[in-house]
Amino acid sequence: MTIISPSLLACDFLNIEAELARLESESDLWLHLDIMDGHFVPNLTFGHPILQLIASKTNLPLDAHFMVTNPDFYIETMKDLNLHVFTFHVEACSDAIATAKSAKSVAKKVGVSLRPSTPLSSLSDDLLKQIDLVLIMSVEPGFGGQKFMPESISRIQELKAKRTTLNANFLIEVDGGVSSSNSESLINAGADVLVAGSAIFKSDKHNYSETISKLRGNP
Ligand code: DX5
Ligand code: ZN
Repeated sequence: MTIISPSLLACDFLNIEAELARLESESDLWLHLDIMDGHFVPNLTFGHPILQLIASKTNLPLDAHFMVTNPDFYIETMKDLNLHVFTFHVEACSDAIATAKSAKSVAKKVGVSLRPSTPLSSLSDDLLKQIDLVLIMSVEPGFGGQKFMPESISRIQELKAKRTTLNANFLIEVDGGVSSSNSESLINAGADVLVAGSAIFKSDKHNYSETISKLRGNP
């Protein structure tokens, strides 16, 4: 089953606890947390204190996406959060294999992410064999509610083919502008995890279960 990871960035921030409660009973669901430092991307979100509060109010696996200039700095500070995924950007570090190794000490899975303009070839075969997840950005990172970039579909196909060639095991996650109008193509292309912020939290009916089911391709 395709994993859906609602991006909390689009939720009602004054009522996070209620938002979390509405997602709690869904299966194959992660919780996508966008950590931005106002430097790697031109936006600032939340850090450890807020993440800790969120972690105390949910049992969903925490899918942390670090859009920060210095991911290594954040690894140690996250150790009490029991993160399911620690994803950092390859553009932000000089030795992605080393960063991935240390991130493994604080999270079950380690992921690497790429901006839409970063070539897939910037992920070395060695890295791809060691990491647990690749996060393909389908918008320029920084803000929710942006328009999906359709070029991401062929990037997912290419990455999936590469995974087969390497006999590697990483999951393919896609993030940015994901909605029920493109989710089927993304799943067919090879996406294992769909991040969706606006599509879930800003849906007209606020029926999160229904939106999640539609994202998976169910009518
Ligand atoms: C963008 C973030 C995304 C964003 C997705 O930089 O990484 O996770 O919140 O939001 P939507 O689904 O609204 O594009
Ligand atoms: Zn994200």
